[in-house]
Amino acid sequence: MEKRKTYITTPLYYVNAKPHIGHSYTQIICDTAARFRKQCGEEVFFMTGTDEHGEKIEKATLEAGFEKGQEKKFVDTIVPHFKELWKKLDIKYDHFIRTTDMVHEETVKRVLSILYEKGKIYKKLYKGWFCTPCEMFWSHIHAPDGICPDCKRKLDKLNEENYFFKTSEYQNALIKHIKETNAFILPDMRKNEVLSFLENNELQDLCISRPKTRLSWGIELPFDKNFVTYVWFDALLNYISGIGYLDDRKRFDSLWPDAIHVIGKDILRHHAIYWPIMLLAIDEKPPKCICTHGWWMTEGEKMSKSKGNIIDPLKIIAKYGVDAFRYYLLAAVPFGYDGTFSEKLFIERYNNDLANDLGNLLNRTLTMVEKYFDGIVPEVKLSCDEGMKSAIENLPGKFGATFMQFDSSFALKEIWKLVKQANKHIEDKAPWKLAKKNKEELSAVMYELIQAIGIIAVLLYSSMPDSARKMWKQLGMKPDIASKNICTPETEKEKFWGIIPSGTKTAKGKPLFPRIVLE
Ligand code: MSP
Repeated sequence: MEKRKTYITTPLYYVNAKPHIGHSYTQIICDTAARFRKQCGEEVFFMTGTDEHGEKIEKATLEAGFEKGQEKKFVDTIVPHFKELWKKLDIKYDHFIRTTDMVHEETVKRVLSILYEKGKIYKKLYKGWFCTPCEMFWSHIHAPDGICPDCKRKLDKLNEENYFFKTSEYQNALIKHIKETNAFILPDMRKNEVLSFLENNELQDLCISRPKTRLSWGIELPFDKNFVTYVWFDALLNYISGIGYLDDRKRFDSLWPDAIHVIGKDILRHHAIYWPIMLLAIDEKPPKCICTHGWWMTEGEKMSKSKGNIIDPLKIIAKYGVDAFRYYLLAAVPFGYDGTFSEKLFIERYNNDLANDLGNLLNRTLTMVEKYFDGIVPEVKLSCDEGMKSAIENLPGKFGATFMQFDSSFALKEIWKLVKQANKHIEDKAPWKLAKKNKEELSAVMYELIQAIGIIAVLLYSSMPDSARKMWKQLGMKPDIASKNICTPETEKEKFWGIIPSGTKTAKGKPLFPRIVLE
């Protein structure tokens, strides 16, 4: 059996338009989590990709001037935009899956056949509401006024024969699973939302087909060629088709038990209700964890293509750099909550946290080591400052505990406590005065500051890989920062003290975070 690995996934992005900040956010959270877990010695497989079938895409194909039947040609022009942005955002995924990949299509057909043979899929006439943009069916109970409860748009009336999956049979099993499985849905407020929905509503069986007379761009049902598969039923299966469910069971078994799906709150119901039920129905376990983040808003509204209020991440990166952008998204909002993106807020945070706090600490310290010790990290004879030492030794544990729960904002705040403490240490100790009267104490202060910056760089690597590498280099360190193991047992935490050994030759470079001056 292959060694077990942590398996991190993003949702598959619709390729009806170019990616925006909302999509970048999911991607950055996953990339950061994957990098951090690797630093902790875990083996990680990180998968992302694109959702390419369904009505949205068929419509976008025609709008882009392509003809009906040329959907694949159209999506082939959009996918590179996603790949290009992920590259610019420094996203290191292990596999990019497309729902038009052959192995994915075959997996969807296989699962449909299994369910059909088991008697879990049946045909019936559906009369009721349908939300075309969300591709969701709504009963009169949930949408008495003909408005979509999710996107608040007007619903269409539908009268159509379709295939349904017996979702309702699994309602109680799912409630039990959610209640009994620790951290299955994060954060807790989302778990409560799902439970309350399940406990107060009778689940409707899920419509899993679309007649070809209405939609032809999709995976044909293996048991009825007049229908294609509902796009969500198709897309959710990527999480198993991409890791060998059909063709490499060993690989699948090594990855599936530790599957973590990171998603936005708008797609929670699909992931926390339909997806686990699909898995239970084919005798597979639900994923280990569904981590749900909030939305990025502009002017009080969710950023989305249909609202026309999108901010292009490429423009922000071009102006301010990728790491500043990653940092802002990770630090500005507690995990699970909505955040507002505006250039003004971005610049404020950049100037405070990166230019003032971190940038100054790095520049001042390296300048002083250069000036007083010819750039060499000094030997220390005196006993060190206990406050600085214990803050440094305890930081990785505090940071890791929250970071593993995806709360990057809280975890980064822990780092900034040390950044502020170190800056205060400089003010309190006034090394420029010590230089005149007490070289031994000066050595100790410099050593303490360098150790603080060392551990800060290592812990920042997953969030700001390029800047952390540069900090590491300026500290004079050679081995790759990514391989610096930070999850050591509690008993070994003193290893973090001395992470940058005395005698190391520092190499102060250009300021990493120059202040942004508003015109
Ligand atoms: N294709 C489906 C997912 C299928 S997964 C099997 C989909 N695609 S999407 O492109 O519309 O959204 C992808 C992800 O981007 C979702 O997690 C969604 O929450 C996220 N975001 C889209 N707009 C967003 C914001 N404005 N803010 C934060 N994330 C949001 O849904």
